[in-house]
Amino acid sequence: TLPLLVDCDTGIDDAIALTYLACREDVEVAGIVSTGGNVPVEAVHRNNLVLTGLLGLEVPVSRGAGAPLVEPPMYAEDTHGPTGLGHAVLPEPEREEDPRAGAQLWVDLARERPGELEGLVLGPHTNLALALEIEPELPRLLRRLHIMGGAIHHRGNTGPTSEWNVAVDPEAAQRVLAAFSGVPRRPVLGSLEATEAVRFEPATLEAVEAIASGTGHPVAQIIADALRFYFAFHESDGFGWMAHVHDPIVAIHAVTGGFASTSPLAVDVELAGTLTRGQTVGDVLGRWGREPNVDVLREVQAEAFVEHLLSTLREGLSR
Ligand code: BDR
Ligand code: CA
Repeated sequence: TLPLLVDCDTGIDDAIALTYLACREDVEVAGIVSTGGNVPVEAVHRNNLVLTGLLGLEVPVSRGAGAPLVEPPMYAEDTHGPTGLGHAVLPEPEREEDPRAGAQLWVDLARERPGELEGLVLGPHTNLALALEIEPELPRLLRRLHIMGGAIHHRGNTGPTSEWNVAVDPEAAQRVLAAFSGVPRRPVLGSLEATEAVRFEPATLEAVEAIASGTGHPVAQIIADALRFYFAFHESDGFGWMAHVHDPIVAIHAVTGGFASTSPLAVDVELAGTLTRGQTVGDVLGRWGREPNVDVLREVQAEAFVEHLLSTLREGLSR
């Protein structure tokens, strides 16, 4: 069983990733940290408390940082809706939050399970950067880190060259990548070139709606209602009636190790650029002379990812 701490800004695709993890019997979600990002941290936290309750995940859910390390927060309510979950109507949360700060939960769980716990970052890196201040040994306590973030040979989705999770808190992302340099297992970086290789098509949305009506599971209905909003956002952004569903791609790879290959690369975050702040710069030709510090996801088996996700949800939500 894979013990996993998930730090996320739920968020439509974060919600799908959490549901996928809850459906996997070989995953133990050890804890969840809510971070401000797609929507303010209060809304993210509420979504996480409601989803863990409905999914039967009896795990600590802690409220993380509400603002990035340096810049004021920014939100993506156009992308994810005012609550973060599109058109979904959520019940009141029945679960209590964990009283610890998000950074402290990272540190506590990593110290409890040294060399076992893996981390999955699906939002801005703020909490993990704060956790490194409490416990600088964190990169060596974790077995591995998996990150959805960055755009290396690809346009951005926030600034022209920056991806959302890095753009919201570039200092935090830069500190995390620096702190995890030289660990035995390099962090896996699922950047936009990997996550945008996968498309949710109209048929995928129909399949999710069929899972909702077939299983009657409230979370399947939440995902279907959230996804319709996400499709409409992508359409208004010029992509047509489809969606790029980033976070589950990295979650699926973290759990299975499959559906994509990885290649080592030295990556750093631009903090000073006047046009390119928050860009993840990859040193493909080795000009910096640095050891690779991440394994970048590539050669994504896009259709297999979607099939695997749908079948896992179909089976897991019927139980
Ligand atoms: C990332 O940004 C967020 O909006 C998504 O949840 C995903 O984590 C994609 O750039
Ligand atoms: Ca996210």
